[in-house]
Amino acid sequence: MAARDWSVNRTAPTKRTAWNALQIHYKKVRHLHLRDLFARDPLRGERMNAEGAGLFLDYSKNRITYQTLRLLIELAEESGLQARIDAMFRGENVNITEKHPALHIALRTPKGTSIIVDGKNVVPQVHAVLDRMAYFCGRVLSGDWRGHTGKQIRTVINIGIGGSHLGPMLATEALRSYADSSLTFRFLANLDSSAFIEAVRDVDPAETLFVISSKTFKTIETVTNARAAREWLVSKLGGTEDSASKHFVAVSANVPEAAHFGIGTPNIFEFWDWVGGRYSLCSAVGLPLMLAIGPKQFGQMLEGFHQMDMHYLATPFDRNLPVVMGLLSIWYSDLFGSQSFAVLPYEHYLARFPAYIQQLTMESNGKQVTVIGTDVTLQTAPVCWGETGTNGQHSFFQLLHQGTALIPCDFIAFIDPVHPLGNHHDLLMANAFAQTAALAFGKTADQVKVEGTPEWLVPHRVFPGNRPSNTILAQQLTPHTFGELIALYEHSVYTQGVIWNINPFDQWGVELGKDVARSIMSYLENTEEPVLEYDGSTNALIRRYRAMRKEPDKAA
Ligand code: F6P
Repeated sequence: MAARDWSVNRTAPTKRTAWNALQIHYKKVRHLHLRDLFARDPLRGERMNAEGAGLFLDYSKNRITYQTLRLLIELAEESGLQARIDAMFRGENVNITEKHPALHIALRTPKGTSIIVDGKNVVPQVHAVLDRMAYFCGRVLSGDWRGHTGKQIRTVINIGIGGSHLGPMLATEALRSYADSSLTFRFLANLDSSAFIEAVRDVDPAETLFVISSKTFKTIETVTNARAAREWLVSKLGGTEDSASKHFVAVSANVPEAAHFGIGTPNIFEFWDWVGGRYSLCSAVGLPLMLAIGPKQFGQMLEGFHQMDMHYLATPFDRNLPVVMGLLSIWYSDLFGSQSFAVLPYEHYLARFPAYIQQLTMESNGKQVTVIGTDVTLQTAPVCWGETGTNGQHSFFQLLHQGTALIPCDFIAFIDPVHPLGNHHDLLMANAFAQTAALAFGKTADQVKVEGTPEWLVPHRVFPGNRPSNTILAQQLTPHTFGELIALYEHSVYTQGVIWNINPFDQWGVELGKDVARSIMSYLENTEEPVLEYDGSTNALIRRYRAMRKEPDKAA
């Protein structure tokens, strides 16, 4: 049956023929230096790049030869990558442990397309919700939607965590210069009461709309903050819980639970269990962004996503940006053994991009078993971290240049600045390009000596180079390019997941901590001294906390 074609690969990645060939090849090329690779092939910089869906990827500063890429592509082919991509786009249950499709691509599919899930075309549903969101945004922005006291909404506070937080927060910040409203946005995620206090500080409750965003509507952080928001509103506005109803909308795949919380069904924007939390920005989870930039520009972002989706689906692997990036990531993680990679956007508005990509990559691919439950015999998901340029240069770049770890970097830059100002952008770009060159080519002891450096100082001033990087260039940060960029990483993550033969769409690893926290909470709430049943360390911490905390009535 076609639906199973993608899932029957029982061969461990390391047992594949292409893997073997790749290992042999790695041993031959691992010591090659980028200096030599470029010296031998002056056209390398012009050849080792790929362009698609509005993005340009220069991957020439990677420690690879043309043969490396060919072998990586053979590995992708032997791993059934195209079949897995097709299966995801067809809406098959690629999220096998939760028995769901992973159809984030359907969220940005144009009207008129058909993607069938359980015998039903989901595309009309997607557009019906987008239309409802647009209508709602129109009401809020025009002042037709008013709060309990009749005041217009001026502040939107998104309450959600993980995928229900990072996406809307990143996107609203990234595209804030495209905002066509004067709304103020805040994003509340953490359980920490200080986060709540800061989110509502200096905000007029009569002008505040809370968007409670949770796929499950059961997440403790979100439910606790939503309850606190309702109490805050009732206490500030007076009256009953009804007085808060004009100040709440929900975004959820669990409509009954959101309704149970007290949000009227007309104010609930639905999404579906076939959308993973960290892949949900294009769903109603993007409501704050739509409120900020309006439905038209939100649509442009969806188009950007869709273009990259189509590029991923139909472009030969050697010119396919997400495939090339995903395979290079495998090359470093599993052949060179590098344990992290840095995401370095040279764009102020993408300050939260590394945090977003962190959840995307690490929650998706931080897995230890394959889709058939056997051990993954390779190192999965490298740690993702990063910072905007040039800030990072004055912080951790020292380690990138002269540390002992090999950390591949993604430099992300734009040809045109969002706000031209003097020579700022040329300087910014000069720095981005300079870093990729300095990392790749370094500076030899001879070069250092020629500068008249005293002998004893020479070792300290040597840059070994051979530190790999990708450079991703786009014309300008716009809603469209933003969509392209996120989709690029989504599909790169999927590509890696396919090679490891894991399921990038579940996240069982977050469950144990939640269970234990629920159990510990019952001991913290216990008025009697409880008999604790954990390990010695955890028991002692609980006892110490109980003994030393201020009683709630004394706390103020
Ligand atoms: O705990 C992890 C997680 O399930 C993420 O995968 C998800 O994005 C986040 O929590 C929030 O979940 P929800 O949207 O259901 O509140």
